[in-house]
Amino acid sequence: MANESVHNQTPAKRSGFATALGALIATLGSAIGLGNIWKFPYLTGENGGAAFLVLYLLATFLVGLPVMISEILLGRAGRANVVTTMRKLSPSPRQPWWLIGAAGALSAFLIMAFYTEVAGWVFAYVVRSLTSNILSTDPQVTLQTFNALVSDPFQSLLWQWVVLILVGVIITFGVAKGIEATTKRLIPLLFILLLIVDVRALTLPGAGEGLAFLFQPDFSKISATAALIALGLAFFKLSIGMGAMITYGSYWKDDQNIPSTTLRVVLSDLAVSLLAGIAIFPVVFTYGFEPAAGTKLLFITLPAVFAQMPLGNVFIFLFFLLTSFAATGAMVSLVEVLVAFANEQFRLSRKAATWITVGLLALVGSTAAQSNSTLAGFTPFGKTLFDLYDFVTSNVLLPVGGLFIAIFVGWVLKPEQVIAQLTNGGTLSNHRVVKMFLFVVRYISPLLVLVVLLDSLGVF
Ligand code: TRP
Repeated sequence: MANESVHNQTPAKRSGFATALGALIATLGSAIGLGNIWKFPYLTGENGGAAFLVLYLLATFLVGLPVMISEILLGRAGRANVVTTMRKLSPSPRQPWWLIGAAGALSAFLIMAFYTEVAGWVFAYVVRSLTSNILSTDPQVTLQTFNALVSDPFQSLLWQWVVLILVGVIITFGVAKGIEATTKRLIPLLFILLLIVDVRALTLPGAGEGLAFLFQPDFSKISATAALIALGLAFFKLSIGMGAMITYGSYWKDDQNIPSTTLRVVLSDLAVSLLAGIAIFPVVFTYGFEPAAGTKLLFITLPAVFAQMPLGNVFIFLFFLLTSFAATGAMVSLVEVLVAFANEQFRLSRKAATWITVGLLALVGSTAAQSNSTLAGFTPFGKTLFDLYDFVTSNVLLPVGGLFIAIFVGWVLKPEQVIAQLTNGGTLSNHRVVKMFLFVVRYISPLLVLVVLLDSLGVF
């Protein structure tokens, strides 16, 4: 019975990424997004700078990288949506591993709810940089510009819908054409633009202080909360813990080297985050912004660095434009999880699956979009809905999902299956890498996630 439904759910021919480089770039396209440019700087600013960066690096390499490799190997072994993959690969149909996929769908919804809102701000800044002068080195002025946008309930909703419709259109073009083609050209451009902005930021008078904040750790700032947030950021950054990478892995080619490609994704992603941090913190210390300004940090500081650049108006337009593309690539991967599932599970056409999903996202998302205006007073658990969705996904759902993924790959899946995926059926001779991976994914990653989660609950 279970087997039969598995067969029914898998269409005879699945689409996939066209080339190996395409798979790398599309995976990078999921990882790179607002997480690098918006979330990484604001969380680093709020949680003590370099000490937080150290925690984040530990989380990335001891948990993020192994869990990401795990997801991709599961995806490529299963070649289906998350739920079907977990059903197919679990040793017995009675073990509910498919719940990872179900929880992942919930995460995708909640992440999209606030992500589309922030992406909406980015889109709004793209347009505003054309229609008005948003550049200023005065913290009061840039803050005012930002607040005017987010506290307007109509604008917030409008921009969120623009974002959702764009994502829907890209997804209906299908995996290879839509996702791969959009991302391939834009990531290199984003890199170059960040480098240009960094050069300007590094020549500001506060650059030394900014860099010290980002790179000179003060270990007294390490706390249980900072550890949890760093771990959550590692999950969010790499798009792991909810099945996005299982879905993307299912499109990877059989001869792609999983460990080395994944490592390249992780390193490039880290580079983008650091470049964004280097663009922002010198500005913070030069013009007297608050490093712990929270979710608005990106939007209030960047207009100041561009105000100090020749053609600043043009550059800030390009910057937000490229950021909007990066955010779109990331959102596409989130929605793709839901669409692949609805498409294969409920046998909806891709088109129908996409637009039903987008409609539901608009509903849930509107509650986040209104959380700075009409719903500002509604604060369950002391958080606005926007903050709540953000917190629950990064700091609870993704780490718990990642914990089970690591346990599944380390302890439940047959080691031969792991080895077959990581060596491409024995054609790659990377036995040391495989051994190291198995050790980390069995003992280190799950233990670290568990300790950090329990620690944040005050167990120790
Ligand atoms: N990684 C993306 C970013 O940093 C966000 C993202 C895309 C994501 N897909 C995901 C986060 C899946 C968690 C899970 O912006």
